[in-house]
Amino acid sequence: MSNDREIAWAAAGAACAALVQDGMRVGLGTGRAANAGIVALGERVRSEGLRIIGVATSERSEAAAREAGIPTGPPGQPLDLAFDGADAIDPRGLCVKGAGGAMVRERVLAESAPRFLVLVDAPKIVASLDEWGILPLAVVPFAADRVADQLADLAPTRRDELSDDGMVLIDLHPSAGADWQAVATRARALPGVLDHGLFTLVLDDVLVGHPDGSVTSPA
Ligand code: A5P
Repeated sequence: MSNDREIAWAAAGAACAALVQDGMRVGLGTGRAANAGIVALGERVRSEGLRIIGVATSERSEAAAREAGIPTGPPGQPLDLAFDGADAIDPRGLCVKGAGGAMVRERVLAESAPRFLVLVDAPKIVASLDEWGILPLAVVPFAADRVADQLADLAPTRRDELSDDGMVLIDLHPSAGADWQAVATRARALPGVLDHGLFTLVLDDVLVGHPDGSVTSPA
């Protein structure tokens, strides 16, 4: 284990894996913290013979699940649990995701499960989403230039890489004090915008890992 953040993610990952029960279909998130959850779950599959099916939110997570020894299946059927990381979470449970570009699939799986666990370390818990300052959008390529033009007041920047679903990823930069829900609603209403990275979480289901190996909830 090389640094404090990795220890914190591993702690959150282990706490998440401990909540998975035999026979569950589990949504597997994308990113460093979610990856720690996948690794911890793989350890339970190996050491306890836990029988689960993982459904991955990205090609990276699919590969991580394979490497961890977790059998995977397609999306479509309801899940029993899903877990993922986050970029920033405010005191009301408003959360930004999508730095890894997987937020479309992440929302699909989060909404397919009765419980959505979010794994983070303490720097992700913020007083205001302004501290993070980025709201990602997934946009149909045909519409990308027009969407960027229509949202010019939000300083849009376009990423070089496409999402796993071939969407253009555009990062908006709302100004300090912005109403993030209003920004997200405005953006999503534009033709060609498939989704954004703003989620509302249940704070009790946020697992905050710490460098001493403990896990707390911001609730
Ligand atoms: C992927 O699209 C994201 O939603 C990630 O879950 C988020 O960016 C957090 O990633 P890290 O755990 O790597 O910071």
